Amino acid sequence: MSSRYADVYGQWKSDPDAFWAKAAEDIDWYQKPRCVFDPDQGAYGRWFADGVGNTCFNCVDRHVAAGRGQDPAIIFDSAMTSVSQTYSFDDVLQEVTAVAAVLKNLGVEKGDRVVIYMPMIAEAVFSMLACARIGAIHSVVFGGFAAQELASRVDSARAKVVIAASCGLEPGKVVAYKPLLDAAIDLAGSKPSYCLIVQRAQLRADLKTDRGELDFANLVGKEREKKTEIACVPVAATDPLYILYTSGTTGKPKGVVRDNGGHMVALQWSMRNIYGLRPGDTFWTASDIGWVVGHSYIVYGPLLAGVTTVLFEGKPVGTPDAGTFWRVVERYRVNVLFTAPTAFRAIRRDDPDGIFVTQRDLSSLRTLFLAGERADPETLRWAEALFRIPVIDHWWQTETGWAIVANPVGLQPLGVKHGSPTVPMPGFGVEVLDDAGKPIKHGLLGNLAIRLPLPPGCLVTFWEADERFRETCLNEFPGYYKTADAGLIDEDGYVFVMARTDDIINCAGHRLSTGALEEVCAAHPDVAECAVVGAADAIKGQVPYGFLVLKHGVNRDETAISQEVVDLVRQRIGPVAAFRTALIVPKLPKTRSGKILRGTIQKIVDGETWTMPATIDDPATLDMIIAALEERIYVS
Ligand code: COA
Ligand code: AMP
Repeated sequence: MSSRYADVYGQWKSDPDAFWAKAAEDIDWYQKPRCVFDPDQGAYGRWFADGVGNTCFNCVDRHVAAGRGQDPAIIFDSAMTSVSQTYSFDDVLQEVTAVAAVLKNLGVEKGDRVVIYMPMIAEAVFSMLACARIGAIHSVVFGGFAAQELASRVDSARAKVVIAASCGLEPGKVVAYKPLLDAAIDLAGSKPSYCLIVQRAQLRADLKTDRGELDFANLVGKEREKKTEIACVPVAATDPLYILYTSGTTGKPKGVVRDNGGHMVALQWSMRNIYGLRPGDTFWTASDIGWVVGHSYIVYGPLLAGVTTVLFEGKPVGTPDAGTFWRVVERYRVNVLFTAPTAFRAIRRDDPDGIFVTQRDLSSLRTLFLAGERADPETLRWAEALFRIPVIDHWWQTETGWAIVANPVGLQPLGVKHGSPTVPMPGFGVEVLDDAGKPIKHGLLGNLAIRLPLPPGCLVTFWEADERFRETCLNEFPGYYKTADAGLIDEDGYVFVMARTDDIINCAGHRLSTGALEEVCAAHPDVAECAVVGAADAIKGQVPYGFLVLKHGVNRDETAISQEVVDLVRQRIGPVAAFRTALIVPKLPKTRSGKILRGTIQKIVDGETWTMPATIDDPATLDMIIAALEERIYVS
């Protein structure tokens, strides 16, 4: 393939250090890194090991210093409250400095952890940047998680301070955060010293000062008035910027650790070369700051690159209708929109002919990017026909922090093959391996793996769990990072990502561990054992289905038990798990050695053709699954 992409990928391949050293020139450092990559540090080496910088400085201060203080940095738009507010770089500097001053007054120092449990409001972004400013490590927790999930993150991070809002706003309901926060802190072994609460007008929380609960606006307002100056704290490029917990193969979430230096370099590079964005452009990533996509492309990527970012509180449908996205694009002249395919499927369901699309002037829009799950060709074709602009699928993970495989529109758009996120980005040596770790031929399905070292911007370890990181990601295929995705690379070098190789399912662009769901189902006193699989869903991609076997002697009403199990999942993991189907079966299909045949159950659930596994212990158990599905009980 002869193309600008091939040239750039080739430059990286022939001299990765020179490639990343050049990319690092776009970052302002206190101490420019002389060492681009040190293979002797960390689990697989560390990037820019002797560099010193500050992420907040690069996102905010340097743009102000360059005379762009009046330019729009963050546009907050809430479809829930009809509020729209634009913050210039000057405004962001002022707000972030004030929050940083509050954190410092509360004793937060470089390296301390701050948990942020917030909806999509500007204070959440200011809080993230304030942590970066003073070298504190933030850990943002998605608002749809329940108290126990929040507790496990507060505990694992040993957070000194939690910043939360009094409530989140979901269609038709106000979600009170404070009771969830209270319950989480009660559950957590390691208690934060303070909780800063953003009081929202829709539901104010009772603050108990004796429990260290403080009013965010009050304290920040005072610092704003005082115009307290808080300088950016120089941090090592290898110091952590944030921890983001994501589902692992057990109930215990993995704390993905992202450093400062590599993260800045990679995101800055990606903004221009992948997304084709320049200072002055407007980027809207319709995701949530609780997810990696939100970290990278609502907050850090655009601000590093001096691009205006849209922070949107609302949903693609129902707030109030399937035209919301197009209202936002038109109003703020969005140039590039990035969202999850599930959002497009939801819009398409409500507005199949794109009537709302035709009612708006979308001429500013140059490209649509999709990620978070496989972009199904049908949705892609629908979007292409409707918008007549490139619709670009790209593949990445919380762990990588930016796209492993993409169509680098900023470099040169490549031909689209539906079903493929296109080609590996510089830094990512993607290969397909067999189960023994040997590279396999083009076109054959296998384990997608990335040759080490991972490029800048990827995870460096799991928080205080180096061994778990090695075991989960590095040990199975020596010399490679295991993505836990299966796929193939065709003869043109296009990568196709087909399925996970572990127990993770993807529900509405959210990552769920069926293992974690099974742990919760099995905790119900009447449940002897269970299996959770991802069932195909027209909008969400997948939704979890639970099959439960009750303990001997339990003869309570089965519907009631199903409802209790559903409630338990909601209580322990959160509504985001979208767990509504818990079916009771007399016995689970297993192999003779006792392994649950989840693959076969999944095929039956999805109505796919399946064959009787040769190793099955009791073939009648598959009929039991079929019967349970026929009589299925949906619980709401
Ligand atoms: N705070 C509190 N609760 C939340 C929440 C949040 N931030 N986000 C979701 N929830 C709740 C919802 O209210 C819902 O609760 P319910 O069961 O009481 O109704 C539940 O979690 C499931 O929510 P969701 O998965 O969002 O389903 P939905 O049917 O409300 O909406 C979509 C479906 C497809 C419109 C929506 O999931 C969506 O916009 N997805 C895009 C996701 C995305 O951007 N992912 C990032 C990857 S790029
Ligand atoms: P998360 O860490 O939540 O971003 O989820 C990452 C997982 O989502 C990946 O490992 C894939 O399984 C899936 N995924 C993300 N983007 C894509 C894509 N473009 N195509 C296929 N799968 C994807």
